[in-house]
Amino acid sequence: MTKPTVPLAASPARASTARLLPACLHLIAPDIAQVEQRLQAEAASASSIVAGVLSHMLGGGGKRLRPALVILSGRASGTPCERLLEMAAAVEIVHVASMIHDDVVDAAQVRRGRPTVNVRWSTQVSVLAADYLIARLYGKLARSDGRYALGVLCRAVRRMCDGELAHLQIGLEGDLDEERYFSIVSDKTGALMSACCNIGAHTAGASPGRLEALQTYGERLGTAFQIVDDILDLTGEPSSLGKPTCNDLQTGHLTLPIIHVRRTGTPAVQAELRRLLRSAQPKNCARVVALLNRRGGIAYARAAARRFADQAREALGELPPSPERRALEDLTDYVVSRGESPA
Ligand code: IPE
Ligand code: IPE
Ligand code: MG
Ligand code: MG
Repeated sequence: MTKPTVPLAASPARASTARLLPACLHLIAPDIAQVEQRLQAEAASASSIVAGVLSHMLGGGGKRLRPALVILSGRASGTPCERLLEMAAAVEIVHVASMIHDDVVDAAQVRRGRPTVNVRWSTQVSVLAADYLIARLYGKLARSDGRYALGVLCRAVRRMCDGELAHLQIGLEGDLDEERYFSIVSDKTGALMSACCNIGAHTAGASPGRLEALQTYGERLGTAFQIVDDILDLTGEPSSLGKPTCNDLQTGHLTLPIIHVRRTGTPAVQAELRRLLRSAQPKNCARVVALLNRRGGIAYARAAARRFADQAREALGELPPSPERRALEDLTDYVVSRGESPA
């Protein structure tokens, strides 16, 4: 399958960026273009260094999945309204801030095809600028009638931190079984995607049943998304990902392909894997990937992502048929098949 992306339809200025919206989200390209304008306005009204940092992050690309989840969830479950766009911009700010902090934690060099904020500026700027963005957003939500979204986002960010901290502390040789890994990735990435769906549904006045279904959808979709992100960290193409591969091995993040082969491999395979992981040099990455491929670890993780994506799709059964529901369904396929063959 070729990479299902289309350029974001828009002005020449926007067309000059590397930003790509998955093709299954084409339906809301005009809405996402409006969200972009709001985000640019956010950048323009920040203090000068934060304005530079936010523009740098926004201009580098990114799939805008979280804003899309807000808009599609609202339109699939309730009454569309202008405020969905405001909430869509808000969740992208939370996502951007979390990536800026994540790149400090992971000592990452490249994000969205550009030097990370910690490289372009410094880790100090990363910490402070991301805090500024979050504090300003939360202040706005607290002042307006955004208290519901504020509560939802606070819980999601706390879970994201819990997940990151747990993953970090385990290390490559730590004890991590599959169930605990699923719970960690659900916290790291499912929490915010679930929050996006929740906020979209709430903003559009959805019934409690539909809101809950969308929350479940976002949680499962996000879990599948992070499992695939972890696969792509091993097998992906840096130019299409916009970030280098093999970062998780360097930073000691144990992921599903490794967990699986560690559990099912023969003693000799397990010893070989341990040896390769102990000397986590870049040259070992290719050998680790070859071993994981040979022993079925990559295919196993892809199948696990498919199961979570299927659960996400099933949750949508609560919603009436609509083009937006269809786009949310298509997103489950996009998430699982991402990077399956080179662009
Ligand atoms: C990156 O998310 C962080 C993870 C949760 C893996 P995305 O892959 O959605 O990042 P952008 O927004 O497209 O850059
Ligand atoms: C980050 O996971 C998840 C967050 C909560 C931000 P990763 O560390 O795998 O994300 P990338 O690969 O750097 O985008
Ligand atoms: Mg990272
Ligand atoms: Mg990753």
